[in-house]
Amino acid sequence: MERQSLIFATGNKGKLKEAGEILGEKFEVIGAAAAGFTEEVEETGQSFQDNALLKSQALYDALGKDCFSDDSGLEVDALDGAPGIYSARYAGEDKDFECNIDKVLSQMEGKTDRRARFRCCVSLIWKGERYFFDGKLEGEIGYARKGHNGFGYDPIFIPDWVAPGVANTERLTLAEISAEDKNRISHRAEALFLLSEFLNA
Ligand code: IMP
Repeated sequence: MERQSLIFATGNKGKLKEAGEILGEKFEVIGAAAAGFTEEVEETGQSFQDNALLKSQALYDALGKDCFSDDSGLEVDALDGAPGIYSARYAGEDKDFECNIDKVLSQMEGKTDRRARFRCCVSLIWKGERYFFDGKLEGEIGYARKGHNGFGYDPIFIPDWVAPGVANTERLTLAEISAEDKNRISHRAEALFLLSEFLNA
């Protein structure tokens, strides 16, 4: 059976790679640039849902094609939910992952409550209608970077699980587990799984 193609309204290579790995069996995932959309959409919304919709709507308005987008980020309890919707540009507009990690680690110095979670909201525009799918991954903020896989805050995020139903007893960071394992437990995997169930129905 031929795979259906789906446009992912993102320029983030880490996210595009993960979506391709998660949805790839059933869908051919095409990035925004490959679909002909290179505009940087300003994230002016007040929630993950608002910002996800801004991105899918901008591509839909420009190309008139069905697409999905996501907005995601890290919420740290001891920082009152920060960096939250500002995760990508927490340490400045140049969206430098290393500086963002440094900022979180320095703000977490001396904090014993290290609970945190990644959240993801996927916005789908399908046959002109809007749909949303949410996912989250619970865990803790580590004390230093560990591992080289993944992207963004992965080297300082210790998920509760390393695979569905398998507790993270070794306290590995997301950057220390394989892409396959991350894609079975992540916030993005959960939201994209719900998206693929919807599209298959
Ligand atoms: P946005 O959704 O493009 O606004 O970016 C969300 C930001 O949250 C990313 O640039 C990363 O800094 C962070 N983030 C989202 N998902 C992940 C993940 O799976 N691992 C690590 N960082 C993530």
